[in-house]
Amino acid sequence: AHVWRGLIEEYRDRLPVTATTPVVTLGEGGTPLVPAHALSEKARGRVFLKVEGCNPTGSFKDRGMTMAMTRAKELGAEVVVCASTGNTSASAAAYAVAAGIRCAVLVPDGKIAMGKLSQAVAHGATLLQVDGNFDDCLNQARKLAEAYPVELVNSVNPYRIEGQKTGAFEVVDVLGDAPDIHALPVGNAGNITAYWKGYTEYAADGIATKTPKMWGFQAAGAAPIVKGHPVDEPETIATAIRIGHPASWTGATTARDTSGGRIDAVTDEQILAAHRWLSAREGVFVEPASAAGVAGLLAACEAGEVEPDQTIVITVTGHGLKDPQWALELAGEGADGRRHAVQPVRVQPDAVTIA
Ligand code: F0G
Repeated sequence: AHVWRGLIEEYRDRLPVTATTPVVTLGEGGTPLVPAHALSEKARGRVFLKVEGCNPTGSFKDRGMTMAMTRAKELGAEVVVCASTGNTSASAAAYAVAAGIRCAVLVPDGKIAMGKLSQAVAHGATLLQVDGNFDDCLNQARKLAEAYPVELVNSVNPYRIEGQKTGAFEVVDVLGDAPDIHALPVGNAGNITAYWKGYTEYAADGIATKTPKMWGFQAAGAAPIVKGHPVDEPETIATAIRIGHPASWTGATTARDTSGGRIDAVTDEQILAAHRWLSAREGVFVEPASAAGVAGLLAACEAGEVEPDQTIVITVTGHGLKDPQWALELAGEGADGRRHAVQPVRVQPDAVTIA
């Protein structure tokens, strides 16, 4: 049987490593490409979910972090730093443990999900809660990396993008070719940049016959690329993508324009509806931001913008257990369309029946 060795070993010839590079891995990558039956019916095609919540720390960030932490170790770094809406910090903290490097994370105070915060703490990272948003955190992290001998492991670090491009490789390796459309959420815009790089490299080497249209989706209250200008006070319940000044802006617009794709906004209501769809109709539990790509596809279907018979891959970026409160609130949605707390059915242990 083939044993998955982590994405650096699996794609070694396509990544910036040498024979002596000290590989830092937790076995990331090799995530499932799950057929989404209800979405396929809706889109009149074949829709697959790239379930990135199955990575070791529960998000796609591990793909970039195995490379960035490997590089930090190769350089002899003693400390890494990152800004984060939660998943990057969880991943950095875990991989820093694996590398034997100290880790400091800057997160927006009160605006990161509990699961993610607890990961950073559990892995022993120095937690700096900033009175500001993600963009403020990234500014501060960049300054720290300039002033001190510490490695910045945000996606402005090119090694992060290198690791994350393997998501595209895996899709092509499973499907046999690139899909027609690849949809995903957009926050700091590193991942759309990375997927596009991966698809482009495979097409250039003839491993795929084409590249997909890249469809990125931002939350309506945090949609700078859609609006064409930065947003100073981004707001969305999808805290992972609550970002107003994306660092990889140009990477995202290049992916969009070169692929013939689109970057559009989805409302929090659409994100929560897609979250509910994924849980209740596909059996896939994600955090709210991760549902943005699905929300975008559903909106495009409603608008008649999806041709039939397309192969569509949607990256669902992070696990539902990261931010589980939404499931409880959503399950309690009443006939009036408003959210109510879930009311469990109370029963005596000797009197349980199922109506
Ligand atoms: N989905 C999830 C679950 C995320 O955590 C992020 C980004 C994105 C989508 C957007 O990806 O930034 O590459 O466009 N989270 C970062 C973090 C910002 O700090 O964890 P992107």
